[in-house]
Amino acid sequence: MIDKKTNKNILWHEHLITYEDRVKLNGHMGACLWFTGLSGSGKSTLASSVEKELYNRKIHTYLLDGDNIRHGLSKDLGFSNSDRVENIRRIGEVVKLFVDSANIVLTAFISPFGSDRENVRNLLSDRNFIEIFVKCPIEICEQRDPKGLYKKARESEIKNFSGISSSYEEPVNPELIIDNSYESDFNDNVEKIINYMKLKKILY
Ligand code: ADX
Repeated sequence: MIDKKTNKNILWHEHLITYEDRVKLNGHMGACLWFTGLSGSGKSTLASSVEKELYNRKIHTYLLDGDNIRHGLSKDLGFSNSDRVENIRRIGEVVKLFVDSANIVLTAFISPFGSDRENVRNLLSDRNFIEIFVKCPIEICEQRDPKGLYKKARESEIKNFSGISSSYEEPVNPELIIDNSYESDFNDNVEKIINYMKLKKILY
């Protein structure tokens, strides 16, 4: 429970180094590439390859990945609706810090609820939030089933599984839709994202 009295006594501290200073030092602005999609749609693999491309261009990056974050920052959370809301809220605040430090942060979370993704967008300016819908039919995700989780979900061994026993709300107006159904398109998909960043002058 938040103690409102204490909260009133917490004041924002302005620091000597600003976002603009950090942009100058890093040579690029901060931005968030927010990958959303079903488990097995290929978000993490795609985000990781985009990160490698950016690294090769000497861009300062960090990748926040659902499975990894759930080993630390969100290890106390499960997959109920309220836990997923809290997971994305935490990530949103972390993303805001990374963007303010003039980093390009890539995130790979199912992030199934539109309102949570909107909340993160609202924490940032529109220009530096890029929502990327990694589109892949559930049948294909299920065929891939890289972690064997769909099988367990079908057998009710895992509850609240996205796309099966928990909902996934497709983005209504994402900056990019990447059809990741065909593994042969993978390199083109990485290139599409890099080209979009150039178009938006995040990359030169
Ligand atoms: S989110 O819904 O809160 O955004 P997040 O991306 O952090 O989910 O975690 C998803 C990962 O957790 C999946 O890639 C999968 O490996 C694993 N997982 C375990 N249980 C579930 C579940 N019930 N639903 C979805 N993913 C699950």
